[in-house]
Parts: sequence; structure tokens; C-alpha cells
Amino acid sequence: MDILNKLEIKDKLVALVQKENFVGWVYSVDYEKALVITNDIWKTKVHGIPHNSFLLATPFHPDKYSNAKEIDKQVILLRVTGSCKLPQDDDMIRMKIDNFQNQQDPFNDEGVKEYDVLTKNKIQFGGLVCRVIGTFYMKNNEFVLGSDIETFYMSTRLNVFMPKGDALKEIVNYVDPIRQKAAKQEFEKLGIQHDVLPFKIGTVRYTSTDRLNRRTPENFVPFHIQPSDFLARRTAVLGMTRTGKSNMIKQTVSVVKKISDDCNLKIGQLIYDINGEYANANNIDEGAISEIYKNDCTRYRSISKDGFKQLLNNFYKQLQDGHTIICDCIRQKSSSNAADLNLFMNSISFDEPNEVNEKKKFRQKIALYKTILFAAGFVAPKSYKIYFEANETIRNLVDTSVNPNDGLTLEESKNWFIKLRKIKEEIKEENDKISKSRKPEDYNRKFTDKHDNEINKWITEEIRILLNMLYLRNDAGGYFNGHKSITEAVKYHSFDRENDVRQEIYDLLCDGKIVILDLSVGNARIRDNVSKSISSYIFDKSMEMFTNGETPKNIVIYIEEAHNLIGKGSELIDTWPRLAKEGAKYKIALVYATQEVSSVHPNILANTENWFVSHLNSDREIRELAKFYDFEDFSQSLLRSQDVGFSRVKTLSSPFVIPIQIDKFEPKKIIEEQSLNVKKK
Ligand SMILES: Nc1ncnc2c1ncn2[C@@H]1O[C@H](COP(=O)(O)OP(=O)(O)OP(=O)(O)O)[C@@H](O)[C@H]1O
Ligand SMILES: [Mg+2]
Repeated sequence: MDILNKLEIKDKLVALVQKENFVGWVYSVDYEKALVITNDIWKTKVHGIPHNSFLLATPFHPDKYSNAKEIDKQVILLRVTGSCKLPQDDDMIRMKIDNFQNQQDPFNDEGVKEYDVLTKNKIQFGGLVCRVIGTFYMKNNEFVLGSDIETFYMSTRLNVFMPKGDALKEIVNYVDPIRQKAAKQEFEKLGIQHDVLPFKIGTVRYTSTDRLNRRTPENFVPFHIQPSDFLARRTAVLGMTRTGKSNMIKQTVSVVKKISDDCNLKIGQLIYDINGEYANANNIDEGAISEIYKNDCTRYRSISKDGFKQLLNNFYKQLQDGHTIICDCIRQKSSSNAADLNLFMNSISFDEPNEVNEKKKFRQKIALYKTILFAAGFVAPKSYKIYFEANETIRNLVDTSVNPNDGLTLEESKNWFIKLRKIKEEIKEENDKISKSRKPEDYNRKFTDKHDNEINKWITEEIRILLNMLYLRNDAGGYFNGHKSITEAVKYHSFDRENDVRQEIYDLLCDGKIVILDLSVGNARIRDNVSKSISSYIFDKSMEMFTNGETPKNIVIYIEEAHNLIGKGSELIDTWPRLAKEGAKYKIALVYATQEVSSVHPNILANTENWFVSHLNSDREIRELAKFYDFEDFSQSLLRSQDVGFSRVKTLSSPFVIPIQIDKFEPKKIIEEQSLNVKKK
């Protein structure tokens, strides 16, 4: 390492100590906490010492660093967590009370009884309790922060300073050198050789009342997040409603987009937009994600609208998905308990068999299922025809002039199947009559035993159910709603979609695009099913790439109201919890927002690397959060301050929690930046 570099790093440690911001001395210290004596005058000079602010304690003089003993070359990082009594406080209080009792005027204008100079000096002292966060020191010429103190000496005089400006910036943006190298390697693996610069997302803010410390924007100290923290990691955005969770998610989307653009690295982003706020601009926020990244963003919606692609599948092609949605609609709408309707929901299989004969039966069943869709009003793709085999006996029974293997339109198929169903009924009626007849041998039969056998063989249990659905009659001839009960699902069918919507979305993500699923419309249950089906598709695809030895694509998934998807009660093998827990392995990052920390699966919380927490209003939530990192220090402040965007942030790269005012997401600024970049190019 050259001398200049060494000097610069040495300077980093020295530069933390700002003489002008001296605020007192540590008068007691142990491994966990330090007690600091401070004075009103010093406090005033630094514009107050807010709760939760950082302080630095060091035995060396910043101007005489080179003369300092080796053992003293360290700076202890403290966080103010409360106040404490000095031993002489009781005397001081007695004196103050005495003095008040002698006052006559609240405003001190008349009859003033001032303290003598000595007393006045003494009563200005007070004690602060601080938690030891760690120790900055030099290790093999590197500037590092250990997360504790190694030892303490009762006799060492530790001067305490309040870090401001550049010193504070250094502290809050500190990244462990090992982590820094790991991040660099991660990017190198992705083919990015240059340094990927951190991005600013907010400024340090200690308290809700920020009159003194953050007087003007010049006093704001920027906080940056490390790009690598967000790739293939889990991020929790927690806080009560209207405290800026969605704002934070928008910031994250734009940070990830910037990384993707700057590094020419494809990172797909998938937003599950429950309230439609990312897909549609509103008056307050002036611009939605979809407007800012017009060229790189595709919006999907379950009910058609201009500018949106259809989220749902073609029911004639994605049979299983379509059937699931149909069943959801029936469950929600229909109160019918017709046996055949129940069997339609629970006993129809869409898994294609391997055996030749079974395949033949499968084709017949699917043709009939599609015919039911047609009868229910599901618009078919243009010139749609269906093909299936029917043996000669059946063909002759139904209609000698028609061979379904040559292809039938859906209308023709409907007629064919209805005729088949009628013939089945006629045969049954004939059989009934014969069995009731006194002289069955005299009965003039229209159908033979062969007909009877063949038709019973051809009409399997599944086909029987489907025929009844089409014909709106059960076996006993009683009317039921049959195919009419599935018309509710028509609005979720997209007749012109050729490919699976999930594959289309996955392809867009692999191409580094932003995909927004506007889930603000449509049936909630269907919305959940579609969301789940898309996420499990992405998970499976990425896992498949991984197990095939390929590198899966970088994808970030954003979900809101996460307690519903990755809740405490969910099984870890379910789609969402699996994605949250194992997704990182397959390069899927998850950003989840919720107001209910305690309802999120503990295993997922424990695996979360990045945390953004704003106001929480219940002790229960705070207690849950306090189990993680040093969030406990912020219990009081999280419960009390309700300021929008005031978050306590712990990222993978930062070793401790930092209180931050998150910047407001400003679409206009981003659009301006984009046009500047275009001009530069
Ligand atoms: N950091 C911020 N600075 C200034 N204004 C903000 C900030 N964050 C959010 N806002 C504004 O506050 C309002 C609420 O924010 P947001 O929608 O992000 O909250 P939320 O926590 O997602 O709420 P909900 O629980 O309703 O989804 C919005 O109008 C937004 O523009
Ligand atoms: Mg929101």
C-alpha cells in the first residue's frame, strides 16, 4: 500500500473526530454501555444531542494522532439511548428547587435570583446513557469497525464528540471491507468489472422534531444503499399505513433500474400492485412507475383496459388454470349443490396420460370440456376446431355424416355431444321400459345391446359429468344450471392469447423489464390464485436453470400486504414462503411490505437481510421487531413518531440500524435525469 493511501485511511479514523463537536467525557464504560457527562454549553454548540444520535468516544487527540499510544488509536461508536443521573444530581435538584421557590416572576424580569457562577456551571452538567455499537480502528492498514469493544480501561480518558457532516456520512455509509470485496466479486461474476456506486435514498434523521439538527438541507447527511444488497436478497418494508412503504418500494424499483442501466445488467422486476398505484398515476404522487419507465415496463391487468396486457390466460389453451378460475367463480357465486356440478369441480383431471388408449379418451374429454366453455360463452380463438376420435358405432348412432376426427367447429361439436347425450337418455328410457314391460321380448327395440354396451364404454365417468353439464340435466333428467354456472368466469378469459401469460412474464423479466401486475380489479380469490401461479412458475423456472448448472436470471419481486402471503401460519413448502426463503439461491430477490411484523413467518423474518421500518403503533409489533439487530434502541421512537418516510434502516452492508428520512420518490426528477442521459449519449 502506498504512503498516500495509508495517509488517507489514517485520515479516515482521525477525520471522524471533529474537535469542534466535543460534547463531554465518558465517565463509566463497560462492554455494553457507556455513561457520558455532558454540558448545556457543549450541547448548544452542536445544536443539541437528540435521542438515538451517534456519538464517538476516543482517547486520542485528533491533531496529535501520530504521537498517540497504539492502544489509544481507536474510536468507539456510541448511540444515545437515554439519560442518567449524575451522583450530585440530587443536590443540584435541591438547589434548583430552592432557587425556584425564591423566584417571583415566571419570566425572570423582576426579583431575579440568579445562581452564582460556580453553581450555574455545575447545574449545566448532565448524564447520557449510550449503547456501545462498535469500535473503529485500523487493521492491516484498513479502516474497519468491530461490532463491540475489545477491552476498556477505567483510567482512560475518553473524549466524546458528536459526528456531523462528513464524519457522520462516513459512519452511516460504512461498509465492512470484507463485505465490500464480496460485493465486488458478486458483480464480477455477473460480468461487471467497474465499481457500482452506492445510491442515495435518504438522509440521517434522529427524531421526529428535527428543528435544530436538520435546520437546513445543507445539514442533511446523505445515506446510501449498496446496490449488491438488493440482488438476490430479502427486504422488509414495515410500517403503519400511509407512512411511506410504497414510496420506499418505488425508490427501490428505481435504484434497481439504475443499477441495471448503469451496469448493462438485466434485472427483471415484478410488482404485485394490489392498489394499482404503481401501474396508474394518481394526482398526489404525480407519475407512476409505469410512466417513468415507459419503454421498459409492461402492465398486466385481469380485466381489459387500454395500455394493459391481459393478465389471464386463454381458457382453451391453459386448461388447468382456466378450470381453477372457473371453480373459484362457481364457489363464490353459485349456491347450487347439484352433484354433477360438484363432480365437475372436483373430479375432472387435466393431466395428459401416456398410454395410447387413455390419450384417446383424454382428447374426447378435453373436446367436450372445450365445448362446454363455448356453450357458456367463452369466445374461442378464430376458426377454432376440435378433433377427437369416435368409433364407428358411436358415429353411426350420433350422426353418420359427421366424423369428429376430421375436425368440428365448436358449434358442430356442441350439436354432436348433445345428440350423444340424448341417445344415451333414449337408450336408458328404452331399457327402463323393457325392464318394466311384462313381455319384454315383444318390445320393438330401436337400440341393440351392442349400442348399449358401446355407449356405456364410450361415456366414461368424466364424460358423463361433462355431458350433463352441457345438457343441463342430471342422469335422472332433473334440470341443473350446468354450463350456465361457469359464465361468471368469462371475463377472466383472454381469447387472443397464444402463449401462457406466465411464460410471457418470465421472458420479460429475463430481458430485464419491469412488469406490473395491476391486481386492483377483479375477484380477490382469483387474484390470489393468479399471483401464486405466476410466482411459482418463476420460482420453478429459475430453480430449473439452477439445477441444470446455468445461472438463473436476476429477478426482484415486490409484494405488499405480505402477511397474507408469507404469514405465520403458512407452510414453508407453500409457493410464497418457499420463494421468500429459498429464492435467493436462485437469484430471486423479494421485497415485501406489511404493517404486521408479528404476522410474518418468523423464519422469513429471520432470513431478511434489509429492513426499512417506519412507525408501528402497537407494542406487540415493536416487541417482535426488537428481536432483530439493534431495533430495540428504537422501540420508543418507532411507537411515537408517525412521520411519513422516517425509517430505521438496517441493510446487509451496514452493521447497525440507522435512522433515516427516506427521500420522496420524485418521478419528475427521474424523467429529467433520463432525458439528460439521453442527451449525453
Ligand atoms: N419519504 C417521504 N417523504 C415525503 N412524502 C412521502 C414520503 N413517503 C411517502 N410520502 C407520501 O405519503 C403518502 C403515503 O405514502 P405511501 O403510499 O408510500 O404509504 P404506505 O405506507 O404505502 O401506505 P399504505 O399502507 O396505504 O399502502 C403518499 O402521498 C406519499 O407521496
Ligand atoms: Mg402502500
